[in-house]
Amino acid sequence: MSTDRETVRSYDAVAAEYAAEAAVMPGWVATEIDVFVTELPGSGRVLEIGSGGGRDALELEKRGISVRRTDVSMGFVELLREGGFEADLLDPLTDDLADPQRPGMPYDGIWACACLIHVAREDFGTVLGRLAEATRTGGRLHASVREGEGEDVSTHGSAAAPRRYVETYWREPALRSALTDAGWIVSDIRRYVGRPHDRWLSVRASRP
Ligand SMILES: C[S@@+](CC[C@H](N)C(=O)[O-])C[C@H]1O[C@@H](n2cnc3c(N)ncnc32)[C@H](O)[C@@H]1O
Repeated sequence: MSTDRETVRSYDAVAAEYAAEAAVMPGWVATEIDVFVTELPGSGRVLEIGSGGGRDALELEKRGISVRRTDVSMGFVELLREGGFEADLLDPLTDDLADPQRPGMPYDGIWACACLIHVAREDFGTVLGRLAEATRTGGRLHASVREGEGEDVSTHGSAAAPRRYVETYWREPALRSALTDAGWIVSDIRRYVGRPHDRWLSVRASRP
């Protein structure tokens, strides 16, 4: 499989609108940020996958974490740059994940909130493995995916700005196996409900 370009184009088209919609920090994400920051080793250099509008990066930086903002959607990257932030176009499935600010040094953690939902099931292990390789021993991972069966295409938006997102859903046992096989030690998988029927599996894991 490969990255779904129509999903990426949908985000490109509505990046500013999406960023505004997602600007308020959900309670469960705030909880996960607290835990992630507390457990982060080293100097606290973090690779963020799917930064979107940049809500979580700002909160992490308030806690003294150094965040590399990235997104697979140029729409979000441009939005972040217009806001005065450095941001890189990066696809975790195919691009070099090495830190341009610290050549040769792995990250202390990976923050991937609500973005790996768009990675195809057959690519999920590859992405998790690449993220593991980019992270130091003892480094932390936050990743959240939607709980459920199979895959779906979510369509909403307007005729002028249609959105079409391909999403992969996960059950906890398969998610746990994928993480372990990719080189992560899972410490916890929490269940959260966002909007009604928006059920998240939120991963806390580390590198052995
Ligand atoms: C639901 S938004 C979440 C954005 C942000 N992390 C947040 O919590 O508000 C999904 C994010 O995943 C990104 N994305 C889309 N396809 C992706 C893929 N194949 N791999 C990684 N990220 C992807 C989108 O560009 C977008 O930033």
